[in-house]
Amino acid sequence: MLPSHIALQCVVTPLKLTLDQAVPLGLIASELVTNAAKYAFPGGRPGEVIVRLQAEGDEAVLSVADDGVGLTGTAETAGTGLGLNMVRGLAQQIRGALVVQNDGGTRLALRFRPERPPL
Ligand SMILES: Nc1ncnc2c1ncn2[C@@H]1O[C@H](COP(=O)(O)OP(=O)(O)OP(=O)(O)O)[C@@H](O)[C@H]1O
Ligand SMILES: [Mg+2]
Repeated sequence: MLPSHIALQCVVTPLKLTLDQAVPLGLIASELVTNAAKYAFPGGRPGEVIVRLQAEGDEAVLSVADDGVGLTGTAETAGTGLGLNMVRGLAQQIRGALVVQNDGGTRLALRFRPERPPL
C-alpha cells in the first residue's frame, strides 16, 4: 500500500515463466517499488511509479520507473545499499541485463530471456 501522494501504475503483459525466474522478478519488483516509496517522493511530493513487464521478441523487460528526486551520485555508483545489491545479484541469477537511468526520476530496467515452463 503506497501513500496517497504516490500513484502506482502497472502495465503488465501476461508471461509464462519458470519459478526460477518468477521468484527473483517478484523480489526485484518489490524492492524497487519499495525504494521509490521510501526515497523518490520526500515531504509528500506527488508523483507516480510505473511498473512494466513487456515482451520484446524473444526477450522481456521488467522496469520500475518513478518521476521523483532521482538517485544521488552517478548511475553506476548510486544505490550501493543491500537492496540494490540484491537486485543486481538476482538480475545476474536470471542472466538479465540491468540498466539504471537517473534522469528526471529513477528507472531500473531488466532485460532477460524468459524461460518457458515445460507444459
Ligand atoms: N527510487 C529512488 N529514488 C531516489 N533514491 C533512491 C531510489 N532508490 C534507491 N535510492 C537511493 O539509493 C540508496 C540505496 O538503495 P538500496 O535499496 O540499495 O538501499 P536501502 O533501500 O537504503 O536499504 P535496503 O534496501 O537494504 O532496505 C537509498 O538509500 C536511496 O538513497
Ligand atoms: Mg532498498
